[in-house]
Amino acid sequence: MKGLVLAGGSGTRLRPFTHSQPKHLLPVGGKAIIDYGIEALAAAGIREMGVVVGVETDRPLREHLADGSRFGLHLHYIFQPEPRGLAHAVLCAEEFLAEEPFFLFLGDNLLQDPLGDMVREYLREGKGAVIALKDVPNPSDYGVAELDASGKVVRLLEKPARPPSSLAVVGAYVFGPEIVDACREVRTSPRGELEITDAIQVLIDGGRPVLPHRLRGWWKDAGNPEHLLEANQCVLDDLQGESRGKAMDCELTGEVLIGEGARLERCTVQGPVVVGEGARAEHSRLGPYVSLGANSCVLSCAVWKSILMEEAQVEGLGDLSHSILGRRAKASAKVPQGKLSLLLGDDSQVCLD
Ligand code: G1P
Repeated sequence: MKGLVLAGGSGTRLRPFTHSQPKHLLPVGGKAIIDYGIEALAAAGIREMGVVVGVETDRPLREHLADGSRFGLHLHYIFQPEPRGLAHAVLCAEEFLAEEPFFLFLGDNLLQDPLGDMVREYLREGKGAVIALKDVPNPSDYGVAELDASGKVVRLLEKPARPPSSLAVVGAYVFGPEIVDACREVRTSPRGELEITDAIQVLIDGGRPVLPHRLRGWWKDAGNPEHLLEANQCVLDDLQGESRGKAMDCELTGEVLIGEGARLERCTVQGPVVVGEGARAEHSRLGPYVSLGANSCVLSCAVWKSILMEEAQVEGLGDLSHSILGRRAKASAKVPQGKLSLLLGDDSQVCLD
């Protein structure tokens, strides 16, 4: 079975971070979001994968993912010239898919469950589709599935004002080749896209089996900064600590992952916390739920529930939380501050006196 990962969208709701990099490359738990999906597909046995990229995401994704060998698979890049929806992205990939079944995964989705069960469920049936579903409190923000009394999927609606159930359609689907023709039948939706939910409805209406797969674990789609921090927390809850760097005069509790060449000095660290390669923290309190990017620096601060990307620096901030600092962003204070929450894009600077 092939994999198809969609990474064409520009992520406007994640600005300022997506002004300078695709949402799929934003880090949670010390790793790019898209890496989790690709690793999960590789773990489900997929070896041949297409990545659909758009105008803005093409170059950075090729640079980051390269030929896929570090994930143990072979990657092909497919260009989607305009962001015209998920069904349109599938149509762009028609040649790559070559009438084989495939696992469609949305590159901004993160989920805890392994994906192998969905592959097996599809192979047992041998046609139609398997779609992942999750009970959520806000179904109107997603595609929503309606099941009948026997548990069969009977209707799918994209972001309905009055959802028929609380079952959101997760960005993980297994399709047979019939989905490509179904995508061709779809009309442009009110938001101007060719929706994959409408293409699945075409399968249902044509009598094809569409099997629901209920997720047990958490699911996040990194839609906005708040979601990114939630995803960071979920991923860190599964963290296994290990030290490849140095911790001197520190008190460490919980799971703490210290990357190669990282150095902690006179710090109290309450895991889960990831300290990226070459990062430095001195005289600070870190955690819980902190991801420090490679070569970032924390001096005389208390930081919790936050993401600092590569080379970000913070100094003298008394109580920093629910914050995301982009690459090379700097925030400092000369006099102690109260509680602070910052969202700083790449290369921004904030100086509080
Ligand atoms: C897309 C799908 C939607 C699905 C969601 C999952 O929405 O159209 O059905 O529930 O992904 O992340 P979008 O992110 O394009 O708004």
